[in-house]
Amino acid sequence: MNKMNIASVKTKDEKANIDFLNLESASKVKGFHSSFPQYERTPLAELSNLSQALGIKNLYVKDESYRFGLNAFKVLGASFAVGNYIANRLGMDLSELPYEKMISDEVKEKLGDVKFVSATDGNHGRGLAWTANQLGQKSKIYMPRGTAQERVDNIRKENSDVDVYDANYDECVRMANDYANNNNGVMVQDTSWDGYEDIPRWIMQGYMTMANEAYEELKENGVKPTHIFLQAGVGSLASAVTAFFSNVYADDKPTIVIVEPHKANCLYETASADDGKIHNVTGDLDTIMAGLACGEPVTIGWPILDSYASYFLSVDEMYASHGMRVLGNPICGDIKVISGESGAVTTGVVSKLMTDPELKDIKDEVGLNEDSVVLAFSTEGDTDKKMYREIVWDGRYPSY
Ligand SMILES: Cc1ncc(COP(=O)(O)O)c(C=O)c1O
Repeated sequence: MNKMNIASVKTKDEKANIDFLNLESASKVKGFHSSFPQYERTPLAELSNLSQALGIKNLYVKDESYRFGLNAFKVLGASFAVGNYIANRLGMDLSELPYEKMISDEVKEKLGDVKFVSATDGNHGRGLAWTANQLGQKSKIYMPRGTAQERVDNIRKENSDVDVYDANYDECVRMANDYANNNNGVMVQDTSWDGYEDIPRWIMQGYMTMANEAYEELKENGVKPTHIFLQAGVGSLASAVTAFFSNVYADDKPTIVIVEPHKANCLYETASADDGKIHNVTGDLDTIMAGLACGEPVTIGWPILDSYASYFLSVDEMYASHGMRVLGNPICGDIKVISGESGAVTTGVVSKLMTDPELKDIKDEVGLNEDSVVLAFSTEGDTDKKMYREIVWDGRYPSY
């Protein structure tokens, strides 16, 4: 396999509906999130010296390691979905359920005992377990084989019933769903399938807070990106952010590049195929980018990516480790970003596209040059500290 493969999107006559991911809806979502005492806009690192060294105009990296003290963006989706679930159950509008009200005894009494159920590579489960814990409710979380102990412990700290199973991520999703169906649990999964779409749609809307904050901050600085790089597991995050920016920059849409690891490249495979069908990837999905280790595209997100993303890249493991080292060791004057494997891969890709002569054709195809202003999202911090040190301190998965 090549170190990097590219698939471009074929032009569509009919595009997916992205109205539910517009600025108006993003503002409502942000209103909900800002009612949380933990809420703060996460930093947008402007890496001017790095961009100069790479030969682009500028590079902005949104640092989600600061999100709610949970080291990843994922809680944005889980909390918004749970908020909507509660509002629906109680016949209220979400605007009547700010954080204080949502965690009140009155709401708990009306709801009764609820068990929130999910499968996770780490971050989504932690976000859901945290939300359930804030509400005084229970959660049950399924994790795939190979999960780092730190990620299990962080979920257990939220009083969750969490276990690692001898199964991959997609199999864990099915196990969690069976459990929820048979035990009166509420399945809160960050991916969709036929007949299960409301909660994943809310989760995607929840992710817009991250995109909206970046949009606002760039606007305050009079900046508009030419390129947006987004990492993908099932593609909920990528499709939500793609839709948001396609709405706000409808007149002059930036080039949007989706990045996946070779070992779990279901969106790349789907984009490359000519049959218009979704292509799953099976097996162990054993990539260091644990958050991206998903083999089945989100069914409600794929049509959005198919309509609005520009390119799909499938990449080697090294782009994650390289990105972690670049962000963790800034050029003097730039801000340091502690970024985990799934967070750093997009920066790793941009850095290598600009410096590796073997990637020149791909660089030219996506149109990266000295006028490019790139926006990337470091979606997690060092969520597996042992691996972080092995990579950043000891040079595991060396750059080439
Ligand atoms: C840190 C991180 N980044 C990106 C993603 C990808 O999100 P999605 O599965 O919606 O594509 C995940 C998913 O768990 C994640 O944990």
